[in-house]
Amino acid sequence: MFPVVVVHGGSGDIPKERSRQSTEGVCSAARAGYAVLRGGGSSMDAVVEVVSQLENNPAFNAGCGSVLNVKGEVEMDAIVMDGKTLGSGAVSAVCHIANPIQLARLVMDKTSHACLTSEGASLFARSMGVPEVPPESLITEYSRMRWRKNLAPGSNPVECQMGKMGTVGAVAVDGEGNMACATSTGGMLNKMEGRVGDTPCIGSGGYADNQLGAVSTTGHGEAIMKVTLARLILFYMEQGQSVEAASDSGLAYMKSRVGGLGGVVSVDPRGHWAARFSSLQMAWAAAQKDTVHYGLHTGEHFTQSIDDPL
Ligand code: GLY
Repeated sequence: MFPVVVVHGGSGDIPKERSRQSTEGVCSAARAGYAVLRGGGSSMDAVVEVVSQLENNPAFNAGCGSVLNVKGEVEMDAIVMDGKTLGSGAVSAVCHIANPIQLARLVMDKTSHACLTSEGASLFARSMGVPEVPPESLITEYSRMRWRKNLAPGSNPVECQMGKMGTVGAVAVDGEGNMACATSTGGMLNKMEGRVGDTPCIGSGGYADNQLGAVSTTGHGEAIMKVTLARLILFYMEQGQSVEAASDSGLAYMKSRVGGLGGVVSVDPRGHWAARFSSLQMAWAAAQKDTVHYGLHTGEHFTQSIDDPL
C-alpha cells in the first residue's frame, strides 16, 4: 500500500486565462499533502493541509476567492471525515474564517456534533481561538465581477457554478491505511442567503470509511445531494467496481437521474485512486510513489517527479 493524496480544484468550464493557475494550484497542494504523508503525518493532516492551501489561493471557490451570495457576501461550507472512526465535522454559512476546513476539523475533534452553522459556528470558532478575518478580505475582484455579471436578468446560477470557479477537496490514504476526505466551498454563485449546499452534508460533499474508500465531490450541490454522490460511489465500490468505474458510475447516475454535472476524487483501501468528472473540465492532481499526476481536460494525464520544480 503506497500512501496517496488526490486533489480537485472544482469541476466546470475553466477559462483559458485561469487554467494554468488552477493546475499549478492543485499540483502545489498535492505536493504539500504528500509531504505531510511522507513525513509520517495522518491522512487527515494531509487533506486538511491540501484544502487549507487551496482556500488560501484566490483562484479557487473556497476561502479567499469564494463566490458571493445574492447580497454580495461570502458564505462558506466545509467538511472533513475520518475513515478510521467515521467521525466527521462540518461548518456551513461561515463568513469570518479564512480556513473553514480547519474549523470543520475542530468541530469533529472538539464537539459531539457533526455540523455547526452560521453564527453558532462563529461563536465556536471564537471559543477555540480561531482568528476572525474581515469578510471583505475573502472577496476578490474576480468574484465581485462575476457576482455583478450574474445579477443581470436571465443569468443562470447553475451554469455560473459549473462555469468559472469550483469547490476544492482532497482524499488521502496514509502509511497506516487510514483514509480521510476534506471538501470546502463558497457554494453557488449568487445563491440565496442561507443556502447550504452538498459540501457540509455527510455522504454528499464527502465520505471516508477505511473499509470502503474515500471520496470528495464537486459540482452542482442540489444534484449531488439528491444522489448522495460520495456515498453512492462507495456503494458501487462495495459492489465490486474499481475506484475508477465506481466514480464514473456515480457521475453517470447523477447526470441521467437528475441532470447534474460534477467531478470527484476517490481512493480505495489499497491506494488505487481516480479523478473523474462529467463537466467540461476539472483541475486535479494526485501524488503517490514520488510522482505527481495531474490534468484539467478529459483524458489528460501528465506526470512530473516530486523532485521536479513546479
Ligand atoms: N458543490 C458545491 C455547492 O454546490 O455548494
